[in-house]
Order: sequence, then C-alpha cells, then structure tokens
Amino acid sequence: MCGLIGYIGNNAVAQTLLDGLKNLEYRGYDSAGIALNDNNEIDVFKAKGKLNNLFEVISNHQNQVQSSHVGIGHIRWATHGKATVENAHPHLSNDKKLVLVHNGIIENYQELRARLEKEGFVFHSQTDTETAVHLIDKEYKTCANLEQAVIKAVKQLEGAFAFCIMHKDEPDKIIAVRKNAPLIIGLGDNENFIASDIPAVLGKVQKIIHLNDGELAIVKQNSVEVKDLNGNLINKEIEEIGFNPEVISKAGYKHFMLKEINEQPAIIRKIVQEHLSDEAIVWGKLPCTLNLEKIQNISIIACGTSLHAAMFAQNLWEDWLQIPVHVEAASEYIYRKNITSENTLFIGISQSGETADTITAVKQAKEKGAQILILTNREDSSIVRYGDCVVPLQAGIEVSVAATKSYTAQLAALYWMGLYFAEQKTSISANQLAVLKQNLTELPAKMEEILSNSTAAQNLAQKLTSYSDLVYIGRGINLASALEGALKLKEISYINANAYAAGELKHGPIALLDENMPVIAILGPGVTFAKMISNCEEAKARNAKVIAVLPLHSDIKEGLFDTCLFTPQTDETTFPMLANIQLQLLAYYTADALGREVDQPRNLAKSVTVE
Ligand code: G6P
Repeated sequence: MCGLIGYIGNNAVAQTLLDGLKNLEYRGYDSAGIALNDNNEIDVFKAKGKLNNLFEVISNHQNQVQSSHVGIGHIRWATHGKATVENAHPHLSNDKKLVLVHNGIIENYQELRARLEKEGFVFHSQTDTETAVHLIDKEYKTCANLEQAVIKAVKQLEGAFAFCIMHKDEPDKIIAVRKNAPLIIGLGDNENFIASDIPAVLGKVQKIIHLNDGELAIVKQNSVEVKDLNGNLINKEIEEIGFNPEVISKAGYKHFMLKEINEQPAIIRKIVQEHLSDEAIVWGKLPCTLNLEKIQNISIIACGTSLHAAMFAQNLWEDWLQIPVHVEAASEYIYRKNITSENTLFIGISQSGETADTITAVKQAKEKGAQILILTNREDSSIVRYGDCVVPLQAGIEVSVAATKSYTAQLAALYWMGLYFAEQKTSISANQLAVLKQNLTELPAKMEEILSNSTAAQNLAQKLTSYSDLVYIGRGINLASALEGALKLKEISYINANAYAAGELKHGPIALLDENMPVIAILGPGVTFAKMISNCEEAKARNAKVIAVLPLHSDIKEGLFDTCLFTPQTDETTFPMLANIQLQLLAYYTADALGREVDQPRNLAKSVTVE
C-alpha cells in the first residue's frame, strides 16, 4: 500500500506533487520521493520517513526544481525492503533516463531480478519495484516508444501494480498503468494529474477518469488517451468528483480522528433518514438486486475494524433472520476450503474498498456462484466491481488512519440491512421491528450526549498512560466492541491491549491479571450483563483495576468498578454503537496524552492493497 501521483502542466511541479502526496499520507508514510523530468535530465529527490522530510530536501534544491513541467511522486508503505532512502521511490533505470513509482507488489520479482542481473542490470534497492524499471528499460531498447515498452514489460509482471512512468526522451508525457491497484486520472485545464486516490487532486480538478485493470493511460498536458494492453483505444467515462475539498480539512479539531469521532451523530442521522423514515425499510439509492429467496446462509468477510463490524452483524442477524451467518477474516477465508455456494449471500465489508485480502475473498466467492453484496465507504473503489449489489456507507472520506466514523456507519448499515432482510423474510414480528427501528432512530441524540461531555474518558486516558498492558473483555454482541476498543487503543497509543471473550478470561488469560493489568469491561444491557458482572468480580479478585463501559443507571454493586464510562440508556442491540464512542474517545485521549501521532500511527496504512 503506497500512494502515487503524477502531474503535467504549468504549475510549480514539485509543489503540486507534494500537495497531492500530503493528501495521500493516509496510504503510508515510511518514505517519500519525487522525480522531475526537466528536458535535460531526470532529477530525483527522496527522503526517509514522513513527507515533511522530503519538503526539507526539496527546499534545499529550489533552483533545481524550477524548470520542470512534468513529474511523479510517491509515498511508501514498506513491503519489500526497509524504509530507507535507497528503497524509497521513484526508482531510476541504470542510464538514469527512465523513472517510475509503484503501488502494489510484483510477485515474480525475484525470478525477474535474477534474469535482469544476469543481463547486466545493476540494482540499488531491495524493492520488488526496481525490477519493473529495469524490465521496462530493457524493452525500451527494442521498442518504438515508452508506451510499447511498458505494454511489453507489464505483461511479464505477476501480482499487483499501479505505475506512473516517465522517460527523459519523451518529456511530454507520463504513462500510467494498473492491475489490481487503484489509479485515477484528474483532468484539468491545460494540466492533467494521475493519482492513487481522489484526495490527491481534490480542489485541483473537477473531472476524473477511473482506470480499470489492464488499462494504460498516456497522459499529456492537453490530452489523455486510455488504451488496453493490445494498444486499442478505450472510450472512458468522465466522472465528476463527488467530494468537496473541506472533507480533508481538520475544521479546527486538533486531529482528524477527533473530528471524525464528532461527525458520527450526523452520519447516523443521515443513514436513519434515508433508510428508516418510511414505513417499510428503504434499501437506498442503489437497488437491492439480490435474490433473497435463494439465500440459505450468509458469509461476511472483512479485515481489521471492518471484521469487527461483521461480528456485530453476526450476532444480530442470526437472531433476526434465523439462518447461519459465518464471519471470517478475509486473509483466512481465502486459504480455507469453505462451503460458499450459490445459496450463500457473501458480504465483503471494506471501508476503503481496496483491501487486497477482502477483494481476493470476494472474487473467490463470486467464482463459487455466491450472490455478492459489498458494503464500502468508497463507491468508486476496486471492490465495487465484484458486487451484485453495493451498499455505500456514506460516512464521507475518513482521513485518520484509525477507523472511527466508518466503523459506526458500518454498524448502522448492518443494522438497517438486517432489519430489511428480516422484514422481507417476516422472520421477526412487526412489533419487534418497530421497536428496533425506533432504537436506531434515537441513537444520534444519545451519541451527541456522550460527545458533549468527554471528561470521564479524558481523565481515564491520563491514568492509562502509565500502563503498558491492558485487557478488554466483552460477551455476545459486545465481543466485537471489546475487540474494536482494544484495536483502537493499540493502533494509536501502542499500548498492548488484548481483547477476550469474557467467558474465556478464566481459561488462561486470567493468569495475566494483577494490579498492573487493568481490565476494561464492556457491559451491555441484556442477556450477557449478569455474566459480565461475574467476570468483573473475577478480575477484581485478582487485584486488577476494573473499568466498565455501561449504560447509565445500570444495577451495579458499589465498589466493583474503579472507573465507569457511561452511555445513555439503550437496548442490547444498539449499545455497541454507543460504547464504541466512549472507547474511541478513550483511545484518542490516551494516544494524545502520550504525544503519539494520532492520525498517522507508526507502521500502519489506511488500506492495505497487498495480501
Ligand atoms: C488496515 C487499516 C485498518 C482497517 C483495515 C481494513 O489494516 O489500518 O484500520 O480496518 O485495513 O480496511 P478496509 O478499508 O478494508 O475496511
């Protein structure tokens, strides 16, 4: 997972590339680099670490970066080779005439590298990417132009790639090509862009083209041609960008994460209005084309935070729909003999729509004849093309690497979708349906109540900074809450937080508990409450500090909890959406108190486009 950009036009190229990369930082920040084609030579500037380091390198070479009108840039999330300057992109050919940036993984790079080294090409990095430079360079020597060399070379590559490629001798163009990695072309006035994602061109252009797999674009200052890998021209649809540039501003908040946490009530209100305002549940702007009669089982596959949303749905849907719901990490599903069939409704959840594991799982399920439903925040993403039916989350662009508003929107979407299916199947009573709809409708106001007073979460966060390990526990529908709470905390604070099914605590993890290992218990109302209290007692008896996240006015024994984070009163099914906000605030304030880079935690990227 990396971000790339290309620009050709009359604006200051280096600055334009850096501006674009700034908005792609969520894709990685291990190193950054740009290359400029200035007619005489290709200049490459690179720096290890965050983009600011590259800003510095470039400000020391101001006179060198003035004359170019075409360039490419990259921000890296390291896969092959450490985060060093040598491994940073762009990568140059040996004659320093050809240069490229890459997103993806070239799977047959070792074999290609060995062959190219034998032929005399000298490698300077440990990356898979450098193989592509030398391969294209080799083909260039026998081809009429860069376009043909690229076509010939990429046909030899296995794996995933999005490339931007320039050649010193063809300074009027950038070639872009993709397979299994996202790429868009931004169409400007007397200037054009290439980018991994829309934020890189937000505010610069209004119109874009989405490249598909196996398509190559020849991008010049005043023209863009898209071809297939046989050189045939393709007539591409030009789309309007649906986002406004403000979505990538912090709007006065210290971090994007805090801004995005605070956006949640409005997002849920919008979802409720769209789907629950009529008597019958409304599927939404895209039609539900699923054959519901045929569905005998449901599989929900996702990664990371989206996987926790899937676990939440499993709890509700098996109850509401009375059919088996299977949930699995995409990276596990793809290597297992599974029972997906044409009677399966297969749901892929991906905020970004670019997660490679989830896309592969969806492709496999499609081959087995399952009906595919995609739940994503990006209607323009790669995963969408495999869906028989797509449900857009409509949470808006999420900039913070740690998912917050997209998770809550996933929970709300899975909630109304479950109710929709239950209504169609008449598997729950009209009465129950009405109550559940009402519960979701009341949620935004309750979320606002939590957000209007975060003092308890802030105070507790201060205390958590002195611990290096924590345990989260939950049961039933709140196991997902515990897992997500722990994931959020470890992602951004680097405190080791492990989540367990509360009933499993006594089967091993309890050995960890003492006064240095606080336990955060998610005590939702309903069937699991009493058992959760027992598990908290067990933790307390081992001297652990016990912190509870629970609804206000719950019936609890005095002194059992060292600290409580309350939610307004609610039912069992919607409590996770409120508890989650307290857990997000706790993670945020803990990380901030520790001085972490909250929006860009180390080693992570917002979506991982490699398996
Ligand atoms: C990465 C991110 C996680 C995210 C996961 C799945 O690992 O760091 O925050 O939950 O990918 O992303 P997706 O876009 O598929 O929901």
